[in-house]
Amino acid sequence: MTTEAAAGDLAIGLDFGGSGIKGAVVDVLTGQLVGDRLRVPTPRPSVPRDVVAVIDGLVQQLVAPWAPSEGDAFPVGVGIPAAIRDGTTLTAANIDSAWIGFPAEREMARVMHRTVAVGNDADVAGLAEMRFGAGRGQAGLVVMLTIGTGMGSALFIDGRLVPNTELGHLELKGRDAEDRVAESARDRFGLNWRDWAAGFDDYLHVLERLFWPDLFIFGGGASKRADNYLPYLTVKTPIAIATFRNNAGIVGGALIAHERR
Ligand code: BGC
Repeated sequence: MTTEAAAGDLAIGLDFGGSGIKGAVVDVLTGQLVGDRLRVPTPRPSVPRDVVAVIDGLVQQLVAPWAPSEGDAFPVGVGIPAAIRDGTTLTAANIDSAWIGFPAEREMARVMHRTVAVGNDADVAGLAEMRFGAGRGQAGLVVMLTIGTGMGSALFIDGRLVPNTELGHLELKGRDAEDRVAESARDRFGLNWRDWAAGFDDYLHVLERLFWPDLFIFGGGASKRADNYLPYLTVKTPIAIATFRNNAGIVGGALIAHERR
């Protein structure tokens, strides 16, 4: 495979979600995907060993079109739906509980024989949007929400990430907010967009009252269908839709990988 980008500017980004694991080779200077974007269903149960095996398989597929002299050197960055410290996953809201305390970065590097960086999936997606997308150049406080199987959050102050915020788990009407406002809640409760948006709007008002953000960015699966719910939102904070839509996690994964080289 050939591209205008130098091999040293390419990295593999992967996004491990509740329903699928997606990945691509990314040009980290532009944020553009190079070649195919691959997606496989998340193994059930989503135990670390099986997920790492799927990720390894995806990486092999992604580098297959490249000469080994190039592809073998691509670092890998993985967004994981968990709070993460020092490469170890510390929580597991929508993934198997075996991820709690799992040394994800070390294990992935051992299996793949590559440089690996891991980060919270929403943090990683937010990094991509702040660098190249909807948050580019935005000063002050930005709250990026990834609306999918879970509700992820990434907080930025003057462009700098405050890692591991878990704002999807704020309490809303006595319950874990994610249970009502993640995209998956729409199916679970059989809600139409207007009803789902009413709960999401309540949640945004809580965030607005607590953080006074300068900008909300909406990413995740629901970013592709923003027209269905934006008209029902009543918060005053400006709202932007993730430029990379549901690919922000892949692009951000490549960014953290490249920084780790
Ligand atoms: C997890 C977060 C994650 C979010 C989106 C939540 O359930 O606790 O770590 O960012 O889902 O996947």
